Amino acid sequence: MSIEVREMLYEGKAKQVFATTDPAIVMVHYKDDATAGDGEKKGTIRDKGIVNNKLSNALMQKLEKEGVPTHFVKELNDRDTLVKKVDIVPLEVIIRNVAAGHFSLRMGVAEGTPFKQPILEFSYKNDDLHDPFINHYYALALDLATQTEIDTITEYAFKVNEVLRAILLDANIRLIDFKLEFGRLPDGTIILADEISPDTCRFWDAATGAHLDKDLFRRDMGGEADAYQEVMRRLLG
Ligand code: TMP
Ligand code: ASP
Repeated sequence: MSIEVREMLYEGKAKQVFATTDPAIVMVHYKDDATAGDGEKKGTIRDKGIVNNKLSNALMQKLEKEGVPTHFVKELNDRDTLVKKVDIVPLEVIIRNVAAGHFSLRMGVAEGTPFKQPILEFSYKNDDLHDPFINHYYALALDLATQTEIDTITEYAFKVNEVLRAILLDANIRLIDFKLEFGRLPDGTIILADEISPDTCRFWDAATGAHLDKDLFRRDMGGEADAYQEVMRRLLG
């Protein structure tokens, strides 16, 4: 039985989510819209939706093979993908290998400083509060996730880091840091959701240190559309 697309359920800053005739499946549509600073800066990045859709799907399929369950079901076309419907755990799960971005601002450590070991951090996914930095006690106290869920999320996040670092290094890209989101299936199983893309990761060219990610847009550096294409070319050929 083929799945048909129905009404839009939700529109986010970079994606739209549509119901389908299968209650367990939704369709994600990737837009070219980009925001930064909680929507203060708005723009578009040419064909970003295509890059993020294809790249996220390819990386999630590799992660599945390495034992990380994901929401990926089927890529329909350049911008549309069927995924498992989940309840998103309201945590932004960030892994950092090298100091950058908000870590550098918060800690006074120069961007590019490598860490002795990767850092895992949580933010509360809440735009009105600007996704505040929290620790796992906050998550438990506010019932954002259970201890078991946090343990699973932590294990998967570090595994994602290992798998992605290796894939990217083969493409001459350093994985500086990234953000993941997880979801719950109806039976409570935790799976990786959202996307893995230059919107949600910091990618630096391993040789030159050039930014190959959304920081080019966030920081008004320019060249973001070409950088996204370059990442897709290196990773997907
Ligand atoms: P940060 O240094 O700004 O906290 O960002 C850490 C990582 O999280 C970086 O790879 C970019 C990603 N990120 C998102 O995916 N969404 C966001 O809203 C922010 C602020 C960062
Ligand atoms: N969360 C930011 C915004 O909404 C986007 C980002 O910095 O990636 O504007």
